Amino acid sequence: MPTPTPLISAEQIQARVGELATALAHRIPDGEPPHLIGVLKGGFMFLADLVRALPRPVTVDFARLASYGTGTTSSGEVQLLTAPHPVRDRHVVVVEDIVDTGLTLERLRRHLLADRPRSLTTVALLDKPSRRRSDVTIDLVGFTVEADRFVVGYGLDLDQHHRQLPYIAVLDPS
Ligand code: PRP
Repeated sequence: MPTPTPLISAEQIQARVGELATALAHRIPDGEPPHLIGVLKGGFMFLADLVRALPRPVTVDFARLASYGTGTTSSGEVQLLTAPHPVRDRHVVVVEDIVDTGLTLERLRRHLLADRPRSLTTVALLDKPSRRRSDVTIDLVGFTVEADRFVVGYGLDLDQHHRQLPYIAVLDPS
């Protein structure tokens, strides 16, 4: 089993989550609660911290998608396994832990836009732009990660391990 080496500390994450929450609050008109949709499973921890950092009431939902592939690579085929509730006229915020190829976010965006939300904002804690296979836009990004770094922790896993870490770590092959 590869060993996780800390990359982004819990303190750095919390500071950045606070900045993202402030930026997000500025994008949505006052008096209209943002409707946050967390992408399971990896996004659960980021969503939980983001809603607590937002200085206003929100509503929350979840979506579950799966991309097929082996180990650390994705095939390009993404299925919507658990669809979120309807979002018509809502100010929707999609909350992702990491955007890699962008195919998961693209698939979910397509699904949500078909329901005609009032606005759609995308937030990702981590971004690997050099791995992109879609031209999907991420409105707010926490940290950029180099393509060759496999990151775990703070919700992200390798074969369901390491999700519970309060920080982001890199897996060293060993
Ligand atoms: C990860 C991550 C994103 C997606 C990003 O989920 O949580 O949702 O991959 O990859 P992409 O940009 O290449 O589509 P994963 O499929 O590993 O499922 P999990 O969150 O349940 O672990």
